[in-house]
Amino acid sequence: MANNLLAGKRGIISGALDENSIAWHVAQRAHEEGATFTLTNAPIAMRMGKINELAEKTGSEIIPADATSVEELENLFSKSQEVLGGKIDFVLHSIGMSPNIRKGRSYGELNYDWFQKSLDVSALSFHKMMHVAEKQDALSEWGSVVGLSYIAAQRTYPFYTDMADAKAVLESIARGYGYRLGKSKKVRVNTISQSPTKTTAGSGIGGFDSFFDFADKMSPLGNALAGDCANYCIFLFSDLSRMITMQNLYHDGGYSMTGISEEIIEQMGK
Ligand code: NAI
Repeated sequence: MANNLLAGKRGIISGALDENSIAWHVAQRAHEEGATFTLTNAPIAMRMGKINELAEKTGSEIIPADATSVEELENLFSKSQEVLGGKIDFVLHSIGMSPNIRKGRSYGELNYDWFQKSLDVSALSFHKMMHVAEKQDALSEWGSVVGLSYIAAQRTYPFYTDMADAKAVLESIARGYGYRLGKSKKVRVNTISQSPTKTTAGSGIGGFDSFFDFADKMSPLGNALAGDCANYCIFLFSDLSRMITMQNLYHDGGYSMTGISEEIIEQMGK
C-alpha cells in the first residue's frame, strides 16, 4: 500500500535493533513510501542487533551514535546531510532504556545514578538531537520530528518505574522544542503514545505479558502493533500532517479513553 507519501524526503531513523523494533517497521515503511534515510543506533547495539540487514534492505547507510553524546549526534546530523545530499525532513527518536528496570528495582528503591542514565538515554537524548539539529540548521522547513512515548507519563504503572518519569520529560521536550522549531523553521515535533508492543525494550518490563493482555482486552480495537505505529509515523512525517505539532498522540486502539471493558469485567467475575 505504498503511496509515495515520503517521495523525495530525507530522514534519520534511530532505534532499530531487530525486526521487532518499532523503528525497524518505520524504516521499512519509509523506504516503501519513497524516502531516503540514515539509520543510527548506539555502537554496542549494532553488535547485538541486526541493523546491517535492515540497511541492506532499505539501501541506507548506518551512522553509529550514542544518543546521550552531543558530539556523536553532531556527527550523525552532519554525516546524514552529506550522505543524503541535503537538509533532513524527518527524524525518528525511538530510544528507551532504564538500568533500574533491567535490574528489577522498584520505584522506592531506585539507584539514582541509573535513574539519571534512564533520563539521559530515554528523554534528554531527544532534547540533544533537536539541539544539534537546530545548531547545524539541519532541518528542512516543514520538517517533522517524532518521539515514542507511553501512557505511563500520565497514569501510574507501578512496574514502569523511572521510565514513567523519563516519558513525562520526553513529552515535555516535544512541547518545548515544538514551539521553538515551529517558530523558527515551521518544523513540527510530536510524541506518539504507543500500545504495549512486543519488542526488546517492551518485554524487559516486569509483568509485560500481563499488561499487554490487559491493554488488549481494554482497547476496543485491540493493541496497536508495531506496523500500525509505523504507519502513524509515516503520516506524521508526510505533508498530510503539516499543522499537527506539540502533541502527545495516543496510538492505542482506544485504550486511553476506555474506563473498563466487557472483557475485563468478565475476567474479574471469574
Ligand atoms: P527496542 O528495544 O527495539 O528499541 C529501543 C532502542 O533504543 C534500541 O534499538 C536500543 O539500541 C536503543 N538505544 C538504547 N540506548 C541507546 C543509546 N544510548 N543511544 C542510541 N540508542 C540507544 O524497543 P522498542 O519498543 O522498539 O522501543 C522504541 C521506543 O518505543 C522506546 O522509546 C520505547 O520506550 C517506546 N515504546 C515502546 C513500547 C513497547 O511496549 N515496546 C510502548 C510505548 C513506547
